[in-house]
Parts: sequence; C-alpha cells; structure tokens
Amino acid sequence: MSARSERTEHTPRRTFLKGAAFGAAGLGAAAAAGCERSGAAPSPAVRPVERTQAFASYVALDLQTDTTAQTDDLLRTLAARVRQLQTEHVPASVGISAPPSDSGTLGPVVAPDGLVINMGYGATFFDHAHGDRKPKGIKAMREFEDDALDRSKCHGDMLLEIRADQQDVVVHALRELTRATRGGLTVRWRQEGSSPPPRPDGAPRNHFGFKDGTSNPTGADFDSLVWIDEPTQPWTRGGTFLVVRLIRMLTEFWDRVSISEQENMFGRVRTTGAPLDGDHESDAPRFEDDPSGDIIPLTAHMRLANPRTSDTDRSRIFRRAYNYTGGADANGNLDLGLVFTCLQRDIEAQFEATQERLEGEPLTDYISPIGGGYFYLPPRDAGSGISTTGGIL
Ligand code: HEM
Repeated sequence: MSARSERTEHTPRRTFLKGAAFGAAGLGAAAAAGCERSGAAPSPAVRPVERTQAFASYVALDLQTDTTAQTDDLLRTLAARVRQLQTEHVPASVGISAPPSDSGTLGPVVAPDGLVINMGYGATFFDHAHGDRKPKGIKAMREFEDDALDRSKCHGDMLLEIRADQQDVVVHALRELTRATRGGLTVRWRQEGSSPPPRPDGAPRNHFGFKDGTSNPTGADFDSLVWIDEPTQPWTRGGTFLVVRLIRMLTEFWDRVSISEQENMFGRVRTTGAPLDGDHESDAPRFEDDPSGDIIPLTAHMRLANPRTSDTDRSRIFRRAYNYTGGADANGNLDLGLVFTCLQRDIEAQFEATQERLEGEPLTDYISPIGGGYFYLPPRDAGSGISTTGGIL
C-alpha cells in the first residue's frame, strides 16, 4: 500500500483559515513550503549547530486540503503561529464570550524556553501541492531487512519537530499548532522523547546505558554533509533532509547480556563512552591498528556505522537522539526506545548507506525499528529574518 493511500479519510473543516488572525506570514510560509520562487539562497555557512533541548516531540501530519491555495493558507497560518510561539508574547485577549486565544498552560506570558520548531515536508506533500518544487532525493521511508514497521507510525505529508527545555513548553506548542490548523492537518503519528542530562559528563545516555551522540561531524564537515547544495534546485540550497526512525529497545533482553558483550556490540566502554581502544569519550578509534577486530570487533555498531575510511567518509550523518518511554506491551514488556534522527544532504548516500552497513549487526537482536519517515527541511528565509523552519539546527 502506498503512503498516499494510507492517508486517513477525513472530512475537511477548514477552520484553520481563521488562524490567519495570527498575522501575516506569507514570506515565511512560502519559504517553509520550499516555494519561494526568487531571491538568493541563504548561505549554509551562517547556520550554527543548535543544541539538543531536553524534550522533543515529533508529530507527523497529513494534509486534508483540496487545493494548493488552501494548502498555502494553511502553511501561512502554521508558520505565523510557529514564529509567534518562538517569541515571548502575551496571548491576545479575545473577550469573555470567545474561547481564549491560548490554552494558558504556560501562564499569562508565553516564554519560548529554548523552543525550536522545524517544519518538515514528506514526499507525499508534493503530490498535494508544489509538485514542481519537490526536492530531489525526497521519497517514502524505505523498509529495511530488520524493520518491523507499524504502518500507523510511518511517513506523513508533514512533520513538526518541536524541541524545548521544558516538557510543558513542547506540549503547549504542539497543542497550539494543531489547534491553529484543525481541519487542514490531521495527526498521523506522534512520538515524544527526552534527552537526559550528562551522567556524569559528555553525551546523554540511552536506555541501554551507553552514551549516545558522541561522534558527530562538526565544522566544515558538518556543513558539507548536512546542507543541500543541489545546483539544479537553488531553492533547496541550505535546506536539509531529516530522517526519523522510531526504534524500540528490548531492554528485558538487553539486561540479560554481559557487560563485555554489550560493550563489544557498540565498540565503546559503557561507563566512560571511550572507544574500546581508548581512554576518553572524545578519543577517536584507531581501526587501522586493529584490522581484524581483536579490540573493537568488526561487527561493533560504531565500526559498521562509521568505518572511518575514505570510501565511507561521505556517508556520515549528523545524529540527534531522544529516549522515549511508553507504557507496556501486551506481554507486560516495557515500551522503551529511541527516537533516532539524523540530518544529511542525501538520504540514499548517507542514512541508507549507513543503515545498510548495520544490517544484521549483533545489536539487531535487541532493537526493533517500528516507524518513522523521511522529511525535507527547507532553508531559513534569510530575507525576512523569519525563522520559518524554527532554525533548523
Ligand atoms: C536503538 C538504536 C540505536 C542505538 C541504541 C544506538 C547507539 C549508539 C551508540 C551507543 C553509539 C556510540 C556513541 C556515539 O558516537 O554516539 C552510536 C554511534 C553511532 N550510531 Fe547508533 N544507535 C542506534 C541506531 C542507529 C541507527 C539507526 C543509525 C544509522 C542508520 C546509527 C548510526 C550511528 C553512527 C553513524 C554512529 C557514530 C559512529 C562513529 O562515528 O563512531 N545508529 N550509536
């Protein structure tokens, strides 16, 4: 079944049009939709790498609009609200006979508290509108050999990535954005996550107790691996592709594995996060000194994911992970996992190439990818200064 035909049927109620009251955001929305038709593309080099806020929500949405004009109105409304939420403001007073303009959960003054909102676009968005602006390389998320995908948690016409320092700020933003677009967008799936503080230092730990996020490209490497630079599609320049994978972690099984086996599976020491051939988390592994994998097994996750060879150098990705906790499954097993996300300029050459190398790795016995999607994050609208995509990084 195609992603398109899996769309939930819904009778459009275009109440989002009323949301235009939030203010003019035409420029911003146009850029967010990748449909800014003229003007110089922003320089990718000016973008700082944003930190990972403590809480996040990933919300995939499906369009329920019938025409491009309606879709554009919806995007304007959404972008205006995104912009407003990222700015400290006092919600407008609408009198006592109308529903309040804000849920009030953040009190009388809405403070952003590190709020970053990115608007993403799945391949199916461009079937709906602006097909001529579809970025090369955006497509439906591929199913891999070790996946156990739950169709109700895959794909989406759009994605909102909402990150903030407090959980109530994330939920407030999510609630206001869905309220502003009710009738025009329906929620397809949603996953919340959190990123714990360093214990005691370095990258935050995942549910397996290992530091996660240690090795990531930085500086010029980051720029050349992450920002799209496609000469035939100048409007995408400085945008990026976001891959989201919802990965269940089978902690009941994991907790029965010896520490040495656990460490061999990742190639790192659990306590310090150092590679098995090093002393500190920041030490680079020296695979060339250990060609047969006596110290860091050839099947170790980090070694397969990034073999550090000239052949695989361009397949590196920028990762950002959030731990999720759900309830329990029918067997009483805890529903714990990782919202794995990565940014890259070319999904096939980077995420998919990395995922292919990881196929069949020992870790696959303890994890199970259940959902996610591929999304395009457009460049910021430098001209208007509106961070319509929430400041991608
Ligand atoms: C639940 C699933 C996963 C867990 C628990 C996990 C855990 C880890 C850990 C502990 C590290 C070492 C520390 C670090 O550098 O961050 C790591 C590294 C890495 N992982 Fe994963 N990971 C998961 C899924 C994935 C997926 C799906 C991909 C991509 C397809 C991936 C790609 C990478 C890469 C590229 C590195 C860095 C390797 C390096 O440069 O040394 N991981 N992961």
